[in-house]
Amino acid sequence: MEKIDYKDLSINPITLIGRRHMLLTAGNKEIGYNTMTISWGQMGELWDKPVMTIYVRPSRYTKTFIDKQDYFTLSVLPEEYRRQVAYCGTVSGMRQNKFAETGLTPVVDGNSVYVGEAELVFKCKKLYQQPIEKKGFFDLDPFDENYSHGDIHVMYVGEIVEVLKK
Ligand SMILES: Cc1cc2nc3c(=O)[nH]c(=O)nc-3n(C[C@H](O)[C@H](O)[C@H](O)COP(=O)(O)O)c2cc1C
Repeated sequence: MEKIDYKDLSINPITLIGRRHMLLTAGNKEIGYNTMTISWGQMGELWDKPVMTIYVRPSRYTKTFIDKQDYFTLSVLPEEYRRQVAYCGTVSGMRQNKFAETGLTPVVDGNSVYVGEAELVFKCKKLYQQPIEKKGFFDLDPFDENYSHGDIHVMYVGEIVEVLKK
């Protein structure tokens, strides 16, 4: 993969995050790692830095790895990996080794891990985290629709420190 400047990206962030196949991976060689599918998030600028914001429910095993160290990665996979990405979005790493089961390749890159089959990778350094709070909603519909069983997302803002492209 080739390192590129985020300023040279020509992508639609809404469809990239919401409609493509994106895997969030956290952990490292020492503590282990895990990956899960995501489709909610934003990309933009905050605090004068290029950032990615993601939303992770506390029940996700991947969250334990996000919380244990400083980095997470987002790997965008080509359409041919639809099945593997669906698997990573329905099965928990608490019970299965998703890399072994799907054949996807974990690439240990210093203090982070990304998915080798990705065509685009964002390496992010955690800047901020905040649980979503009911009191912040102007309209309670999204809250009621998404959190009737609790497990309320935690928002993580990560600085995009590296972009890799195939
Ligand atoms: C298309 C798709 C998008 C998803 N997006 C998110 C998301 O943005 N945040 C989240 O917490 N879970 C999301 N999930 C659910 C997790 O990927 C799923 O619960 C996964 O099994 C968690 O794995 P883990 O327990 O190994 O971390 C999504 C699932 C799918 C299929």
